[in-house]
Amino acid sequence: MKLADNKATLSFSNGSPDVELPVYQGTVGPDVIDIRKLYAQTGMFTYDPGFMSTGSCQSAITYIDGDKGELLYRGYPIEQLATQCDFMETCHLLLYGELPNAEDKRKFSRTVTMHTMVNEQMQFFLRGFRRDAHPMAIMTGLVGALSAFYHDSTDINNPEHREISAIRLIAKMPTLVAMAYKYNAGQPYIYPKNDLSYAGNFLHMMFATPCEEYVVNPVLERALDRIFILHADHEQNASTSTVRLCGSSGTNPFAAIAAGVACLWGPAHGGANEAALNMLHDIQRQGGVDKIGDFIKQVKDKNSGIKLMGFGHRVYKNYDPRAKLMQETCKEVLGELGLQNDPLFKLAMALEKIALEDEYFVSRKLYPNVDFYSGIVQRAIGIPVGLFTAVFALARTVGWIAQLNEMIGDPEYKIGRPRQLYTGAIRRDVLDLAKR
Ligand code: ACO
Repeated sequence: MKLADNKATLSFSNGSPDVELPVYQGTVGPDVIDIRKLYAQTGMFTYDPGFMSTGSCQSAITYIDGDKGELLYRGYPIEQLATQCDFMETCHLLLYGELPNAEDKRKFSRTVTMHTMVNEQMQFFLRGFRRDAHPMAIMTGLVGALSAFYHDSTDINNPEHREISAIRLIAKMPTLVAMAYKYNAGQPYIYPKNDLSYAGNFLHMMFATPCEEYVVNPVLERALDRIFILHADHEQNASTSTVRLCGSSGTNPFAAIAAGVACLWGPAHGGANEAALNMLHDIQRQGGVDKIGDFIKQVKDKNSGIKLMGFGHRVYKNYDPRAKLMQETCKEVLGELGLQNDPLFKLAMALEKIALEDEYFVSRKLYPNVDFYSGIVQRAIGIPVGLFTAVFALARTVGWIAQLNEMIGDPEYKIGRPRQLYTGAIRRDVLDLAKR
């Protein structure tokens, strides 16, 4: 962190002395005011529910310029990574800071491939769930349970443990998501296949059966790989902050990532792709494109409680760059599968156009986010709606683990412990039961 030339001065109207606060500069993006000593100096906390203006850490992994609609992983624009690299290269970049050369890529992919199987005991654990359990309920349990199977990689303070748990998590997530799907479908689990790519292997574990040969479709493989790249990291979002906070207590990496999975599940976060697709289905059932006007009216009515899912973002006040890439992928996949006239895609395009011209959305800078189109792509690939967020979790795992390992390696890292503005009862005495 580099000190900026200027300082911030906090003054009070009650005559308390001014407080000077240091200001730090990053490489790009807003400066930060260092308030760490504020409480010691003034006896006051800052108040920022939802972290609207709070930087919780320093990080060198991902940069977002929400106004420009720019997303960089380790400095590289997401558009270049999505079109010139694959997910394994992106994982290497996020974890180690640099894109691999051909030899590093081969070694890294090989290492990940060698860890794709899960302990055979895992399937008995899975059997304890109801067949109709939500995949994210299963994933929260399974990821946390990894800590019970891999005792040699649970010490977060040991760099070797951190390295091996990172590889294990990236390698085993597709296996676990596919197992959750197969369990739900009542089909036998399909073991990983080492000659396939990361995305190809996932497709194989999802859709192959022991009855016949499954051939991976390269267009769908590439589409899935792109979904993984686009979801791989997104700086200090809710689930990543959850992983950091959980990990800050020194808990093991599997437990910290399980906390991230649980957070991602919510419809305001990773659950939005599922919610967006369900929303499109609902509009379609009510009459499709002709009903968009009525639907938009409901969205604009604050009392309706209805939101345009897949629209809006805490950071992007411009088009989410991932949404553009996802729309492109959506067209490719639908073309490959002969679904160009897919009614949901047409509905999504019409809805997007109308929303982007509507004063309500324009004035609030609400644009499509990555989830607006990712559901349509996943559905076309054959992934059931209930599994969408689990696929997101699979892809985000590398970001979570890179951020967790960065935090542990940061000399300034401390257990996360926010404070509060207390508004409850002041001290009072307990009355005898008869007198209450
Ligand atoms: N539909 C309708 N109105 C919206 C939407 C939406 N999708 N999103 C925001 N607004 C409105 C809010 O009601 C608010 O209006 P107001 O100023 O009149 O009160 C204004 O826009 C600002 O929105 P906030 O809710 O204050 O923004 P916040 O940053 O807290 O929320 C969020 C961001 C949660 C993503 C929100 O836009 C949302 O709920 N979107 C739908 C869910 C979604 O797609 N989530 C995916 C996020 S991306 C991801 O996790 C991969």
